[in-house]
Parts: sequence; C-alpha cells; structure tokens
Amino acid sequence: MFFECSAEPSVLAGLNSSPKYLLETNLGGTVNCLEFARRSSGLFIFLSTSRVYSMAPLQELNLSEGITRFELNREQSISGLSANGISEKFPTDTSRSLYGTSKLASEYLVQEYATAYGLKAVINRCGVIAGPGQFGKIDQGVYTLWVARHFFNRDLKYTGFGGTGKQVRDLIHIDDLVLLLEKQIAKQTGRNAETFNVGGGIKGSTSLLELTKICEEITGNSVGMAREKESSSVDIPWYISDCAKVQSTFDWAPKKTVVQLVSDIQDWLRKNKQMLQHSFS
Ligand SMILES: NC(=O)c1ccc[n+]([C@@H]2O[C@H](COP(=O)([O-])OP(=O)(O)OC[C@H]3O[C@@H](n4cnc5c(N)ncnc54)[C@H](O)[C@@H]3O)[C@@H](O)[C@H]2O)c1
Repeated sequence: MFFECSAEPSVLAGLNSSPKYLLETNLGGTVNCLEFARRSSGLFIFLSTSRVYSMAPLQELNLSEGITRFELNREQSISGLSANGISEKFPTDTSRSLYGTSKLASEYLVQEYATAYGLKAVINRCGVIAGPGQFGKIDQGVYTLWVARHFFNRDLKYTGFGGTGKQVRDLIHIDDLVLLLEKQIAKQTGRNAETFNVGGGIKGSTSLLELTKICEEITGNSVGMAREKESSSVDIPWYISDCAKVQSTFDWAPKKTVVQLVSDIQDWLRKNKQMLQHSFS
C-alpha cells in the first residue's frame, strides 16, 4: 500500500513568486509516487485537500455574523452545500489557489492511473489536520500554532474578515485520520479512485475566536491578540466538511472533540517543552 502525503502544503505557496517549486513538488511528486505504484501493487491513498473547491463560491457563501462565528444561512443556491457542510458535489471548476489546483491536478492523475493501469486508489480531501507532533506555522498548521502560542505565552493575530476571528473551519485530529486510513486499508476498496471529504464536520468545527477561549481555559494563559482587518486573496470565511460519504463507506466517524485536540497538543508541548519552545516563536 502507498500513502501519497508529500507536498508543499501552504495555500500561500507561489503567490508572490514563481509557482515552479510548488508544482514540481506537488504534481511532480504525485507522478513519481504513481509511477512507483504502477509498477507494484496495493492500495494508493492520496491525501488531497478541501482547497480543491473553487474559491469564489466559498468566498461568496450566504453567511451571517454570529456572536462567536460566521454562521451559514439557510438560503443557499449552490450545489454540494447544506447544513451538514460542503460535500464532494461542491464546484471545483473555477480558481482554487495554486496549491488547491496542484492537488486537484494530482487527483485527476490518480484517477487516470486507476483507469489506465487498474491502480486501486482512494482520494481523501482533508479539511484542517491538526494534533500533537505537528509543527504549526501561520500558513499551515495554524491551529497547532494557536495552541502552542498560548502554551508558550506568545502573541497572536486575527487576520482577515475584519480581524474578528470569526472564520470557521472543521478540524480533524491526526488520531481520527489514522483510524480512517486503517479502515480504508482494511477494506481495500478503490477501483474508481473515488473522492471523499474528510474532516471533523460540524461537531469538530470552531472559529478562531472560539478556539482562543478553549486555549485560554486549557493552558491558563491569555495572550495578546492583534487584528488585521484585510483578508488575503486565498482566505475563506467558512469551511466545514460534509463527511456523510466517507462515514457511510468506511463506517468511520471522527471521535475527538476540539477540546480534546487542544488538550492533546498541550500534553505534547508539555512533554517536549525544552525542545519545542523555540519552534513556535
Ligand atoms: N495539514 C493540513 O491541514 C492538511 C489539510 C489537507 C491536506 N493536507 C495534505 O496532507 C499532506 C501532509 O501535509 P502536512 O500538513 O503533514 O504537511 P507537512 O509539510 O508537515 O508534510 C509534507 C511532507 O512532504 C515532504 N515532502 C515535500 N516534498 C517532498 C518530495 N519532493 N519528496 C518527498 N517528500 C517531500 C516534506 O518533507 C514533509 O515531510 C499533504 O499532501 C497536504 O497537501 C494537509
């Protein structure tokens, strides 16, 4: 079996420079992995991303501003969107960021290898992955960074959407993702290289503002919070994975809550404090 998890995973990659490195790493990397898998046998599991979905419809969702987060209004006129979140039917046909496009192009290649060479494959479009062991940065792993900055008592900044911190994401704990991968390996399905949205879903969703409160309660620290009102071209206000398809196909559901996630990250930071204290500055 093969896991294709290698990537330049930053949504900001290539924005202010050439995208060559991004494309060679993400698309070229997938070709290398597919070529290896073509000459072997076994299930090919590709970690794709929710960023394959088109940015404009995500940026134009009909939202209202709640007290602690942006909320999805009932009236929506776009396919693949419901109160359960964003499903695999959400549009992918317009711009998605260079990163998202590199991953979507890789998905297409995985599907072509499945058809042309009979490769068994599964494509997991992951929302935000977080958990102990992740070296969080602003442009990737920001939720682990959020916990770490609280733990080490270092300042943070709400960026975009008026600097309110109300943007919403669903987080998947790395342990839950591993459980899913184990189920996918056990099932050995994958004839058509199907795509699955994978995330924490509604129950695993949080805004940055809500996450700050959880971090304050768990670490006991309250850090300075700057506010930058302007959003970047790749910022999206709301994304929650609708995981109905992956749940019914693999009899899987995420178990860890956001509170457990924060607590597990703190345990990891505490155990490795000496080593990690300079990594989250
Ligand atoms: N972190 C998230 O929230 C998230 C969300 C959705 C999808 N993903 C996907 O999950 C996968 C893992 O991401 P991550 O967040 O753990 O990022 P990461 O940067 O921690 O891991 C990516 C790994 O790829 C390796 N890599 C990069 N170029 C390589 C190459 N040419 N050859 C071999 N290895 C190479 C890097 O050394 C690194 O270990 C990626 O494919 C990413 O697109 C991540």
